[in-house]
Amino acid sequence: MARSFLNAITQNAAHYTPGEQVNETGWIKLNTNESPLPPSPKVFRTLAELVGQGDILRKYSHPLGEPLLSALATHWKLDKAKLMVTNGSDEALALICRATLSAERRAAFPAITYSLYDTLVTNCGAACVKVPMLEKPGLPYAIDLAALESSDAAVIFLANPNAITGEYTPRDAIRRIIATSQKLWVVDEAYNDFAGSEATMLPFVAEHDNLVVTRTFSKTHALAGLRVGYLATANAALMQGFTAHKDSYNEDALATRLAQAALEDTDWHRSILRSVVTGREYLRSELKALGFIVYDSAANYLLAKAPQAMGAAIVVEKLRAYKMLIRHYPGSAFEDCVRISVGSESENAKLIGSLKAILSDK
Ligand SMILES: Cc1ncc(COP(=O)(O)O)c(C=O)c1O
Repeated sequence: MARSFLNAITQNAAHYTPGEQVNETGWIKLNTNESPLPPSPKVFRTLAELVGQGDILRKYSHPLGEPLLSALATHWKLDKAKLMVTNGSDEALALICRATLSAERRAAFPAITYSLYDTLVTNCGAACVKVPMLEKPGLPYAIDLAALESSDAAVIFLANPNAITGEYTPRDAIRRIIATSQKLWVVDEAYNDFAGSEATMLPFVAEHDNLVVTRTFSKTHALAGLRVGYLATANAALMQGFTAHKDSYNEDALATRLAQAALEDTDWHRSILRSVVTGREYLRSELKALGFIVYDSAANYLLAKAPQAMGAAIVVEKLRAYKMLIRHYPGSAFEDCVRISVGSESENAKLIGSLKAILSDK
């Protein structure tokens, strides 16, 4: 056996399991919350304009992610110094962990949420405080904001809407708690645009030095493969800390231009939102009719309890025969549930058709 040169933190490292990506055509992927629509046509036009411009690849990219950084500052009416472009919002989350956590400084998050938090926190040598969920009508796995605030942790991670469940926490409730909190609150807004235009905490970044907001181009701009995200904070010392941990050229030159094109096409962005919300409500009513218990969701996915007659694992397995992927979390508190990303109109219809066949054939 090879000798181990790993440090103690890495020897005990946690590993994140990403949703399955298939390397074969013909699959309908409703397992990783990607956009069902393609990116804006302006993204492809920008890409075509860049083809043949050797300099863009020959030179290093801009260390702060220009021209995207300026475009984001204009879009959100925020000073550039309060924004950082990152390689997906996962990188933003990793930088926050590296800059703020240690063996003495733990992180708290809801027991059911984006499982990457656990991995990132553990891999910084810090402990995770997993705050139990509450039961509310329509939401058996609801977030307990007060318990997060009173937890023994220095940093709180709150996905809004929450991952897996789709629960939206009203931003006024978050504002109220942050205003008197001594902790750093990280509000992960990967799915926030789906919850409406009044859902983001970005307008309040300047008011609170204990708030960091992370966002992504992966979902509502249909650019998951490009890996572009960003964070916002008015706390200059925090920003310096994040900068110390980031790669010098963390975002590539093509990505900064393509994401800028996507950001500026607000009509296309709105059409993605409309399509997802319509598809989500179609899936909700069809799944209910098939005997699933479907929980409230403000995101681009639904968590649903599988019908009694057929367990979640079997539903997921049988859908594979139809070349369809949805998500299942064996061994979790919600292993009787499936999580379904909203697809295109035809993908949603195919999913419901296949489920009807599977359930009538049991
Ligand atoms: C809650 C949450 N935050 C962040 C991310 C990561 O997004 P990105 O593609 O920007 O790294 C995801 C991805 O699924 C997510 O579910």
